[in-house]
Amino acid sequence: MTLGGHGVESTPNNMLEQDNINKPSHVAIIMDGNGRWAEQQGQPRKVGHEEGMEAVRRVTRRASERGIDVLTLYAFSTENWKRPPQEVHFLMQLPIRFFDTFVPELQEKNVKVNMIGFEDKVPTSTKKAISKAMEQTKDNTGMILNFAFNYGGRAEILEATKELCKKVASNELSVDDIDERLFEEHLMTHSIGDYQDVDLLIRSSGEQRLSNFLLWQNAYSEFYFSELLWPEFNGDVLDEALLSYKNRQRRYGAL
Ligand code: FPP
Repeated sequence: MTLGGHGVESTPNNMLEQDNINKPSHVAIIMDGNGRWAEQQGQPRKVGHEEGMEAVRRVTRRASERGIDVLTLYAFSTENWKRPPQEVHFLMQLPIRFFDTFVPELQEKNVKVNMIGFEDKVPTSTKKAISKAMEQTKDNTGMILNFAFNYGGRAEILEATKELCKKVASNELSVDDIDERLFEEHLMTHSIGDYQDVDLLIRSSGEQRLSNFLLWQNAYSEFYFSELLWPEFNGDVLDEALLSYKNRQRRYGAL
């Protein structure tokens, strides 16, 4: 496990450009620290989320430039409903504004939008904005920008299990047919295709926990923790994480 520092200026950018050796295909980020950043600025929490949205733009741009195949961002967890109603409302509105202003650039960069999570409880206007962005970018062949919105890892695994049980009960499947590949076909991340496994998991704000994020998919991922709060995050910090990943040896249990 690595704890990222603040050495943004020291990142050797040229070491990452056009370099496919040890590049993660799937990068997933737990964007943490919006509230603390706002508090430090003496601002309401929503200002932190607003700046967090700018960090999403910066990191999306850099990840796409670096040739990452899938960037999954944890934007709203199934546990985030416990926050005060005004904050939940603000977080639900963010995708509407984000896609309204960012889709033209995503088109230009050939980025395809995807979403994982539960649709229940998400306001119709938010669902519409997300579906519209997915529809507008569906033919893009570059990076997949995958938002985890109203997502929870345990709930995802339970849903997959229920689906499989139903298929066994109706004789569509036998218990012995169930293997990792079939299980993955029933996970929400099936929608991102070949890159369901996370290669590099990044979390900002110095916290070092998984918070119910992609529990199955992170089984063999490398972790990178940054002390920076999410609104401070940028492309150079992503480069630091990519550089750290580049120097890791992944053994998947072998020698
Ligand atoms: C965690 O910070 C952040 C969230 C729960 C929301 C993440 C949302 C964004 C980064 C905005 C971008 C979203 C879209 C859809 C473009 P926190 O509020 O838990 O911070 P704290 O731990 O300091 O209180």
